[in-house]
Amino acid sequence: MKLTDNTILITGGATGIGLALAEEFNRLGNTVIICGRRAAKLEEAKRKLPGLITKECDVSVRKEREELLNWAIKDFPELNILINNAGIQREVRLNRGVYTQDEVAKEIETNLTAPIHLSALFISKLTTQPFSAIINVTSGLAFTPLAITPVYCATKAALHSFTLSLRHQLAKTSTKVYEIIPPIVDTELDQGARDKRQQTDRGMKPKEFAMLATDALKSDVGEIAIGMAADLRNRREELFNAINRQPV
Ligand SMILES: NC(=O)c1ccc[n+]([C@@H]2O[C@H](COP(=O)([O-])OP(=O)(O)OC[C@H]3O[C@@H](n4cnc5c(N)ncnc54)[C@H](OP(=O)(O)O)[C@@H]3O)[C@@H](O)[C@H]2O)c1
Repeated sequence: MKLTDNTILITGGATGIGLALAEEFNRLGNTVIICGRRAAKLEEAKRKLPGLITKECDVSVRKEREELLNWAIKDFPELNILINNAGIQREVRLNRGVYTQDEVAKEIETNLTAPIHLSALFISKLTTQPFSAIINVTSGLAFTPLAITPVYCATKAALHSFTLSLRHQLAKTSTKVYEIIPPIVDTELDQGARDKRQQTDRGMKPKEFAMLATDALKSDVGEIAIGMAADLRNRREELFNAINRQPV
């Protein structure tokens, strides 16, 4: 993939992996637009990287996704890359009756419905560009689930499947479809849950992850598994037993 002179929209780009990708793409000479729900986090990101363009948007709300498209095509007609990165992760302990349908619906809407709908919305714009891409951020847990986060893992498995079909459907267009599969990365994704379950492995730093991911994007391989995510994809059964050693 061409790594310079693009105009890139990164959902959930104000923190963690999204922000690290924004920094790396900014450094490589791209125009980078980030969106997220929290204005304070968007402002913080902009203070760090004044070149960033920021937009408040909750991608779990259909109307806001539609507004994001209209705003982006009006103000950034050269937009050629969509990175579906925004995500949330919740512990759902079905065996203990810890299940809230509203929260589960939000997790599905954010992690799965939003990237599907945003892809659908942006395709007609992207395919008119000489080069364009949709990059979906899934997870090693799409392949080997962590049982304590069953809905999260299911959304990522479904997004992986969707990405395969999307790549096939767009094969004859100017839009390349990539999947980035992160391992554990040290971000706010878990909202403190890793500490609570005494998980000591905080994973890779977002900056290192972003450098590995952008470097891999150069090679034009559609499915990019970083670090131990490659193992989670390739050695599923063995690693399922290893990462789910603790009873839930
Ligand atoms: N960290 C890991 O170990 C890991 C591993 C595999 C995959 N991933 C994936 O990497 C992606 C980025 O996660 P991260 O680790 O960087 O966690 P993070 O720091 O929590 O970043 C997630 C971002 O998504 C935004 N977001 C959440 N819900 C949103 C919504 N409805 N609308 C718009 N933005 C929303 C958040 O901002 P607001 O709250 O302000 O909206 C936040 O900036 C996710 O898709 C995650 O599943 C992470």
